[in-house]
Amino acid sequence: MKIQNLGFMASGRGSNMQAIIDACNEGRLNAHPVVVISNNGNSGALDRAESEGIPGHYLGSKNFPDADKLDQIIVDTLRKYDVGLVVLAGYMKKIGAKTLATYQGRIINIHPALLPKFGGEGMYGKHVHEAVLAAGETETGVTIHLVDAQYDTGSILAQCKVSVEKRDTIESLAERVLFVEHRFYIETLGKILSGEIVLPHQ
Ligand code: GRF
Repeated sequence: MKIQNLGFMASGRGSNMQAIIDACNEGRLNAHPVVVISNNGNSGALDRAESEGIPGHYLGSKNFPDADKLDQIIVDTLRKYDVGLVVLAGYMKKIGAKTLATYQGRIINIHPALLPKFGGEGMYGKHVHEAVLAAGETETGVTIHLVDAQYDTGSILAQCKVSVEKRDTIESLAERVLFVEHRFYIETLGKILSGEIVLPHQ
């Protein structure tokens, strides 16, 4: 498995994925986006894959209702494109046991808060920033972590802080964190690819 071959899994608009693809295309990241998998047939991520000429696969519970088969098809698809690192970018589903076993220590995710705070089931999108503001936090941030069988519980690889301003709304905070996410995902991927951040089982 070539770690430079990135396989994306994304459910939504795919702005983090796009930032990483742009960095690859512009030579800022020494990696190749080889496939995009989405559980949402109407996702922005699949549209972006098409515009970028990257194979896109709609693999979700609607078209593959048997969870084990879906897991197997995801593994087969990642293998078919010789994916070496699975990059979750707004993927809303848990990763199946077969995919986890095949890509142990090779699946990473980005979360828009400082885990272990503000993670877990239901902590996605605006809900995260809403909870950060409700808790009166003065700083939040971005976490990049390994993926395990639960939501947001895998080992933390890198974190970066973002300050919370008094005048912040959910929207303004979401926007500022997302801006940092794009830069930080690329930076952290660069460190993984160069070996500065060591993944287990590499
Ligand atoms: C990001 O905030 C990411 O941290 C979280 O889901 C969101 C995805 O946004 N996991 P996008 O689809 O990359 O625009």
